[in-house]
Amino acid sequence: MTPPGDGSLPAVAKIPYGGDYNPEQWPEDGWKDDYRLFELAGIDTVTLGVFAWAHTQPAPATYDFATLDRIVERAVAEGRQICLATGTGAHPAWLARAHPDVTRVDFDGRRHRFGQRHNSCPSSPAYRRLSTELARRIARRYARTPGLVAWHVNNEYGGACYCETCAAGFRAWLRQRYGSLDALNGAWYTTFWAHTFTDWAQIEPPSALTEHWRGPDHTAFQGITLDYLRFMSDAMLANFVDEKTAIRESSPDMPVTTNFMGMYRPIDYHRWAEQLDFASWDNYPPDDRSAARMALTHDLMRGLKGGQPFWLMEQTPSVTACRDVNPLKRPGLMRLWSWQAVAHGADAVLFFQMRASRGASEKYHGAVIGHAGRSDTRVFREVAELGEELERLGGATLGARTPARVALLFDWDSWWALEISDGPSRLVRYQQVVLAYHRALWDAGVDVDVVAVTADLAGYEVVVAPALHMIKGDVAARLEGVAQRGGTVLGTYLSGRVDEHDQAFLADVPGPLGPLLGIRIDEWDAREADVVNPVALSTDGARSLVTDATLLFELVVPQGAEVVGRYQADFYAGTAAVTRHRFGAGEGWYVAAGLDQAGVSWVVRRILERHDLVGPYADVPDLESAVRTAPDGTRIRFLLNHGTEPVETPAVAAGVDLLTGVRFTAGDRLHLDRYGVLVLRETT
Ligand code: GLA
Ligand code: ZN
Repeated sequence: MTPPGDGSLPAVAKIPYGGDYNPEQWPEDGWKDDYRLFELAGIDTVTLGVFAWAHTQPAPATYDFATLDRIVERAVAEGRQICLATGTGAHPAWLARAHPDVTRVDFDGRRHRFGQRHNSCPSSPAYRRLSTELARRIARRYARTPGLVAWHVNNEYGGACYCETCAAGFRAWLRQRYGSLDALNGAWYTTFWAHTFTDWAQIEPPSALTEHWRGPDHTAFQGITLDYLRFMSDAMLANFVDEKTAIRESSPDMPVTTNFMGMYRPIDYHRWAEQLDFASWDNYPPDDRSAARMALTHDLMRGLKGGQPFWLMEQTPSVTACRDVNPLKRPGLMRLWSWQAVAHGADAVLFFQMRASRGASEKYHGAVIGHAGRSDTRVFREVAELGEELERLGGATLGARTPARVALLFDWDSWWALEISDGPSRLVRYQQVVLAYHRALWDAGVDVDVVAVTADLAGYEVVVAPALHMIKGDVAARLEGVAQRGGTVLGTYLSGRVDEHDQAFLADVPGPLGPLLGIRIDEWDAREADVVNPVALSTDGARSLVTDATLLFELVVPQGAEVVGRYQADFYAGTAAVTRHRFGAGEGWYVAAGLDQAGVSWVVRRILERHDLVGPYADVPDLESAVRTAPDGTRIRFLLNHGTEPVETPAVAAGVDLLTGVRFTAGDRLHLDRYGVLVLRETT
């Protein structure tokens, strides 16, 4: 194993700007013109070779770097920074033919044949050997390339394989984890339905042919499915580590990353993060109403490496091609969302893609340069304008951290366990719950770290733990610690239900969270989405709100907690739906039902008010505020107008607008156009 990622970031002087560039797809006499256009757009960084395997190794015993050499030489001659890929995200046709175990077996048991990409069996010996060898040779050849700033391993790891090699790998992984079949049978609760395993060879990957019915979320044995998800995530991580180790033989210090996909369920990015030097991700929001979701995802990606800046590795300048319907980014949105990424910790702004493919599945995907090669298009102009702004900003934000005093816990195990569970409700989706709570914080203009359950919570005043279904390790004790010293912890329905093996606690719900929250739950009621139970919320009689709850209603029996919200309907009308419990010098809050956004926001505001954490721009409609603190202590506030109307608001501090140089003092009117952005160095 290579040493874990040391957290080094690419050495750059300003925010790298550019992205995936695949000139192997078009004649070389056009490359010069590509760079002429890059120059006009302020493009200083190119990601090369992401899908070049068929070029770099055209046959089993033949490595041929002639094309990649010319591509790299051109980038060097043009003085660009290079993010160089190993190119192993799509295996060549000869490889699938020569080694049929390289292609995957799907959930339904079908062995795939050559086609598409991102589809290599992670356990295939041939894939592992040849992808590692390719990474080794690429690193050896290009490690000393002038302008090289980062290694890009593979591309968007994901999916799953159910082949015999993976089955064998799963059994080996289980032996390692459990040591004995007794321990495994205990963890999986195999006495149920006569599943006791008496030989490791009896264990099958959980698929449509074995434990599953109605697809990947419906399993008879949650413990088996959960472990297969963990195993698959680890198997692909081993592929990453294979390549990284090979790169390190000739490139000991150059930062290594792979591009993540944000809230992507199949891969536990927290388990991966320690192997990466820096995190990076590809931002493709489903529509233009996803600003809150993007904010959450950026915060999650920043949390992967303890708050270290990440790279925005891909975004489209205009449209995607992979959805049924692919809406165009409105004028100003690409800029706004680029700055939003920077506001949340991105130290690079990169696109997919620099120039459009002529054929195949992405010929209609947006690009900085379209098929006609024009620089007088709206999209090109906007890219060039942002290029100029980033140039003007220089290195001011590089390495800057988010000074968050609020943490939100995000946990892949809880996500998996919740969504593969039979009962209480298939309608409760982990991301939706997390999103509602993050959104309430985002609306309140507060900076949030989205962190793993293993993160150090000592620096936070407020910790929000939505749908913390699984309680592992010492997380309950650490949450108690937050409240003990005066902080506030907020938990929600479906928390504290199972241990790391997905077995219920032999205790009152919410299990180990009970003492902190001061409640007990004996019953719960899951209903169709159209069944509403209003909840009346009030604290100290002062502020109150009646709001709707849907999907899940837990019946809370307070065990010392005070009732903050009560159900208004059904046989449990008048009983607790939201509670607050004094614990140590702080509080443990619990929301027992699927409150609507207004209800969630009401609860979150009460908590933030207790800590005086509501942001200064919180109530300006559509205005997002995010702060980063540069290594020299400079405080940079990003204001982002997600609305289609201009915003005017008084400045809360004196400072200078880093994009225009305009100075202002506290109280001056700040103006933001529709989708406008201000990057303010605050001096007071
Ligand atoms: C992903 C991939 C790219 C490209 C884009 C298109 O992020 O990494 O290769 O396919 O999607 O949106
Ligand atoms: Zn496999």
